[in-house]
Amino acid sequence: MLQLPGRAGKVPPVLPCMRKLTIAIDGPSGAGKGTVARAIAAGLGYRHVDSGAMYRAVGWKALGEGVPLDQEDAVAALAGAARIDVTAAAVTIDGVDVTRAIRTPEMDRAAAAVARLPKVRAVLVERQRQVGADGGIVMEGRDIGTVVFPYADVKIYLDATPEERARRRASDPSRSGVPSAVSDVATLLTERDRLDRTRAASPLYAADDAVVVDTTGKSVDEVVREVLDVVRAKM
Ligand code: DC
Repeated sequence: MLQLPGRAGKVPPVLPCMRKLTIAIDGPSGAGKGTVARAIAAGLGYRHVDSGAMYRAVGWKALGEGVPLDQEDAVAALAGAARIDVTAAAVTIDGVDVTRAIRTPEMDRAAAAVARLPKVRAVLVERQRQVGADGGIVMEGRDIGTVVFPYADVKIYLDATPEERARRRASDPSRSGVPSAVSDVATLLTERDRLDRTRAASPLYAADDAVVVDTTGKSVDEVVREVLDVVRAKM
């Protein structure tokens, strides 16, 4: 059942859907992917998976074990051997709950560093495909519509101005040790976006068949409604 958000954010189910879709949501940091993907998944009764959390968990483990983040084979071996679970409630790696620990500026850098490594990406992309094999999933990331699920039923690319994205990140309660000044956040964010967009392995870009949604100045409800319109058209 698809639920549409109303004025208060919740409205009754409206659409029965037999086929479980695969929904890819990509975009830069702070574009609203997490909030929107969670709401869409909840409305459809689908699983929500934050693929970035997997890169963060691998970065966390590599740092903890003293594995240099530029040693591709070593980091890929670590990723391949690790059990990583990403649920709506928590992120664990080898049974350790890292839900909060991976949301720091240090882990932003560690995740971006391991995400540059093609062999690490190969390991995690495979895991992501396994998780999404049966459909009924909303997966967010940077390469979900381009690499992980190129045949996704719905591809959304969320974007917003750098200023708005920095503002959102600065007020994100899930993040610890983050500079509170929006200008500092903007500097870090711009640098990370540059790394994500210019890396050789699976750089961030909108798939040709993605629907680009600019979330600047829009409420969560507005964006969710826009995305659900796209989803409904596929049902
Ligand atoms: O979405 P996030 O900020 O938690 O992602 C952490 C890092 O991982 C970021 O540098 C982008 C990268 N990433 C990626 O390369 N591919 C994905 N599918 C998801 C995240």
